Amino acid sequence: MDRLVDGFGRRFNYLRLSVTEVCNFRCTYCLPDGYRKSGPAQFLNVEEIGFLTEAFARLGVHKVRLTGGEPTVRRDIGQIIAKAAQTAGIDKVAMTTNGWNLARRIGDWHAAGLTHLNVSIDSLDGEAFHRITGHDRLRSVVEGVDRALGLGMASVKVNAVLLKETAESGLGGFADFVRERPVAVRFIELMRTNDNADYFAAHHASGQVLRDWLEREGWTPRARGADDGPAVEYVHPDYAGRLGLIAPYAAGFCDGCNRLRVTSRGLLRLCLFGEGGVDLRELLTEGRGEELQERIVASLIGKRAGHALADGLSGDTRNLAQLGG
Ligand code: GTP
Ligand code: 5AD
Ligand code: SF4
Repeated sequence: MDRLVDGFGRRFNYLRLSVTEVCNFRCTYCLPDGYRKSGPAQFLNVEEIGFLTEAFARLGVHKVRLTGGEPTVRRDIGQIIAKAAQTAGIDKVAMTTNGWNLARRIGDWHAAGLTHLNVSIDSLDGEAFHRITGHDRLRSVVEGVDRALGLGMASVKVNAVLLKETAESGLGGFADFVRERPVAVRFIELMRTNDNADYFAAHHASGQVLRDWLEREGWTPRARGADDGPAVEYVHPDYAGRLGLIAPYAAGFCDGCNRLRVTSRGLLRLCLFGEGGVDLRELLTEGRGEELQERIVASLIGKRAGHALADGLSGDTRNLAQLGG
C-alpha cells in the first residue's frame, strides 16, 4: 500500500538505511581524522533490520539502499543484504561503499541479493585518491567495479565529489573510464556539513564547470525518468557509460525527493540536513509492525519542502558518515 506521501505530494518509495557510523577511510571532506567512537555502538541487528524493511515495504517502499559510514565494515553485511532481499515487496537492494574490499567480496554480496551498487571514487589519479581518502587503494577499488560489472548487476555507479583542485583536470579521465564501461559516474557538489565549514569554503566547486565541459565535449542530458534519483545524467554516442551531476544547491533539487533515511541506531530522519529524528527502534520487535507503520506514516507531517543549505544551515548533520549521505 502506498501510504508514504508528504504534505507536498512527494511519494517515498526508497529507504536509505545506514547500518553503521564506522568508516575505515578518512575522506578529507567527511572524516578527515577518521571515525571517532562516540558512545556504545549498538547498531541495529539483522533481526531489527528485518522488521524495519518489512514495515517500509508494507508502506510501499520497494528499494532499500544500505549505507554507512562504510556498510561493509560490518561482518554481517552479507546477512543484512540477504534480509533486505528476502523482504516481500523489496525488488532493489542497493549499497553505497568506498570499495575497500569490493573486489574480494562482491561475488558473495551479489549472491546474497545485492542488485545495485554505488562506489565512491573521487579521483582516478592514484596519488590524489590516496590524498583524499587516506588509502592507497585506487587499483583495488577499480578492480572491484570491474568485477561487479562482470557479474551483470542491474546497476553500477561511481560517485566522485567535485573538488576545486580536481574539478576540471579530472573530467577527461572519468570520461575515458566510462568509454567502455556501462557505468554512471556522478559528480557530487561538495555539501557543507557542521564539521566541514572551513573545508567547504576552500574546496567547493560549482557543477557549472562540469556542465560547460560536457557541452563542449558533445554530451547531452538524458531524459529523466519518474524514479530518477538526484543526479542529472548525460550521454554521448561514443561512450558506453554516462556522466552525471548531483547539484544539491540547485533550485528545485528537493522537489523530487523520494527517499527517507533511518540511522544505524534506528532514528527516522526526514531529510539529510534535518534536525532530530523519530525513534523507531523500540518498535523493532515481534508483533509491533502495525504500530511501527503508523509511527512512520505519522512522522511525514514533519517533512519540510527542502534543506536550507544555501543559507549555510546543515541541520544536525555533522558529516555524511553519520547517516550515510
Ligand atoms: P541512487 O539514485 O539510488 O543511485 O542513489 P543516490 O545517488 O542517491 O545514492 P548515493 O548513496 O550514491 O549518493 C550519492 C550522493 O547523493 C551522496 O553524496 C548523497 O549524499 C547525495 N544524496 C542522495 N540523496 C540525497 C538527498 O536527499 N539530499 C541531498 N542533499 N543529497 C543526497
Ligand atoms: N558533500 C558531498 N558528498 C559527500 N559525500 C560524503 N560527504 C560529502 C559531502 N560533504 C559522498 C561520499 C559518497 C557519498 C555517499 O557521499 O563521497 O560517495
Ligand atoms: Fe568514509 Fe564515505 Fe565518509 Fe569517505 S565519505 S570517510 S568513505 S563515510
